[in-house]
Amino acid sequence: MKNESRLIVVLLGGPGSGKGTQAQIINSWLGIPQISTGQLLRSEIDRGTECGKSVRAILEAGGLVDDDTIGGLISNRIGMSDCIDGFILDGYPRDIGQAVALDRELLVSDCLVVIALSTHLDTIVRRLAGRWNCTYCGTSYASSSSAHSNTCEKCGTVLIRRTDDHEIVIRSRFATFQRETPPLADFYRKRGVYETVNGMRPPAKVAEAIAKILRNTAAATVSNAS
Ligand code: AP5
Repeated sequence: MKNESRLIVVLLGGPGSGKGTQAQIINSWLGIPQISTGQLLRSEIDRGTECGKSVRAILEAGGLVDDDTIGGLISNRIGMSDCIDGFILDGYPRDIGQAVALDRELLVSDCLVVIALSTHLDTIVRRLAGRWNCTYCGTSYASSSSAHSNTCEKCGTVLIRRTDDHEIVIRSRFATFQRETPPLADFYRKRGVYETVNGMRPPAKVAEAIAKILRNTAAATVSNAS
């Protein structure tokens, strides 16, 4: 393990708020990996593992997978060598139990910043109704950008629609998010690491706001260390 502090960026936000989109942008800036619990779970389902079989119905209904299953997946992923300088958590934690579990994975020297992307339900439904996803690298596309080609611009894999991107399931995912998030936001607000960004502006504008937060976080880390 290196001595310098790891940067851990937690992206909170409802379904379709842009967590995955912004995680990929942050990854392109900083080189630290995006860890999406949704993608980890879908990979288990696609590979037909016991874990995948046990969580499939939960994802299809828009509920939350149990904390032990998620905690195990996260712990394995964080232990990989590409996380040595830090990582971006996309969709984790989602409740207080997961936030407490994440604390157990952190080092005293880590620099944690939690960024919540705020969006309205009608915007979310519109975005997800048009979303196409790459099953290989996880890149998501709005329908307008994927209309002329059905393949991923980054890796050439065929794009698919997610089975949970139907309006009734989107509404259920949003309801889960609304129920679980206020205590989580309080948990991080009390620690002084919680920031919010308006997620309804164009992706580049959202990214600009996130960049500003990350610059301030880096400055605070340096001044705390000196
Ligand atoms: P997960 O895969 O994490 O889904 P989600 O949280 O519902 O979020 P999405 O991936 O749908 O959206 P996003 O915020 O990443 O938005 P995106 O950038 O793609 O989880 C799926 C399921 O797994 C959960 O329902 C649950 O069952 C389970 N699960 C996952 N984590 C769990 C956990 N920790 N505990 C328990 N269970 C868990 O953008 C969406 C679309 O909008 C795209 O088309 C994109 O191009 C477009 N877009 C993005 N930003 C903008 C913008 N600013 N303006 C216009 N369009 C935009």
